[in-house]
Amino acid sequence: MKKLRVGILGLGRCGAFIKSLYLNDAEFVATCETKAEMNYGLKELYGEDFGFYTDFEEFLKHPGGMDVVIIGNFFHEHAHYAIRCLEEGINVISECLANATMAEGVALVRAAEKSKAMYILGENYQYSTECLEMKRIYDEGTMGKVLFAEGEYNHGLISSKEEADKTRTMYLRSFEEHWRNHLPRTYYVQHSLAPLMFVTGSRPVRISAMAAYNVNGTTGDKMIGPNVKDRAAIMITQNDDGSVFRVTGCSGWGSGDNTYRVCCEKGQLEIMRDDESLLVNYDENYVPSGKERKTRYIPEPDPTEAELIEKAGGGHGGSDYRVIVEALKHIRSGVQHPLDVYFATTLSSVAILGHRSVLNNGQPYDIPDFTKEEDRLKYENDYETPFYGTDGSKPTIPCSKN
Ligand SMILES: NC(=O)c1ccc[n+]([C@@H]2O[C@H](COP(=O)([O-])OP(=O)(O)OC[C@H]3O[C@@H](n4cnc5c(N)ncnc54)[C@H](O)[C@@H]3O)[C@@H](O)[C@H]2O)c1
Repeated sequence: MKKLRVGILGLGRCGAFIKSLYLNDAEFVATCETKAEMNYGLKELYGEDFGFYTDFEEFLKHPGGMDVVIIGNFFHEHAHYAIRCLEEGINVISECLANATMAEGVALVRAAEKSKAMYILGENYQYSTECLEMKRIYDEGTMGKVLFAEGEYNHGLISSKEEADKTRTMYLRSFEEHWRNHLPRTYYVQHSLAPLMFVTGSRPVRISAMAAYNVNGTTGDKMIGPNVKDRAAIMITQNDDGSVFRVTGCSGWGSGDNTYRVCCEKGQLEIMRDDESLLVNYDENYVPSGKERKTRYIPEPDPTEAELIEKAGGGHGGSDYRVIVEALKHIRSGVQHPLDVYFATTLSSVAILGHRSVLNNGQPYDIPDFTKEEDRLKYENDYETPFYGTDGSKPTIPCSKN
């Protein structure tokens, strides 16, 4: 099998994918990273021809070319680079978020439709062993159709470098305008919502959201950013199949664990907060023959996969490894990946319009269907953003309700 040549934009989080590339007949041939000091020891690791670039357009011209680029630069600046790759016929695996403005979402969809290359959202949480087991059972059909589902993603933000050093927590905000300092609670909705969409196939069509915060103030609070006083955004989506989801975006309550619950016509699937076991819970009228009414167990990967996950570094419980396995499989076969540009931009629309709903006291917003040109036209010039841009641009809306 021909080795796929892979480049990485932004050598932070996406460094976690490199071992998985080598385990899947691919090689890491070049990177674009603005921190020139990161160009250290890379040729020793990845070969004499390895390319280090600080300029993206130069990176795209890397001798020998690239089949795939993994986009892992700043969270809110992925779309432009993904579009440039698609224009050059290079397949894209983009970290979440796909697009930080509605207009970028429209441009991204149009670029993906024009390109011969494939766009894939590099979201990983639906590939946890528990979520895959949920999907396996849901697809069997014994639970019936989803009616309601919940997804919670929790990630406390450490408020200062000193605090992070004290708690030995990685300090992830390198400068005042950094995206993590201005991250509205709805914008990191991928980890809570993508697994629910992946398991059930439901697509959000309307969003309403409210912020949860501490009315008595936040002095000394270690769990919030300097600009974001909202502690969570509680987001309700109505979906195209009549179901309703409640998701948190990225919440910051104490002792937060991630969890998912899918309530269906004939029973419920729930990942338990204490040990990440899966509770498979049938209604007494619908217990399939040969099954228990309630079973609770910790799903495990098969031993061969477990070994590969360990070799790959085990990131996010094996889900990082599976992002690469699945993406490369689809790129090689040409069969469209389920986390395609429509899936990706729908998630972004929930994040962006969810935040508008938070700012407007829960007002509902329709989620556009970007397969339709009339929905794209509504948003093609909508550049509202809560973020500072690398190009010096400033936020146009607040990043927090409180
Ligand atoms: N799926 C997950 O579990 C997970 C976990 C962590 C981060 N992420 C995502 O990965 C992305 C990167 O996260 P991070 O924490 O590494 O972010 P980060 O802010 O540290 O940025 C990553 C790197 O990109 C570089 N960079 C930024 N703009 C660039 C440009 N124009 N050209 C070249 N290099 C550039 C930065 O110098 C930095 O080294 C984000 O989208 C984040 O949301 C996902």
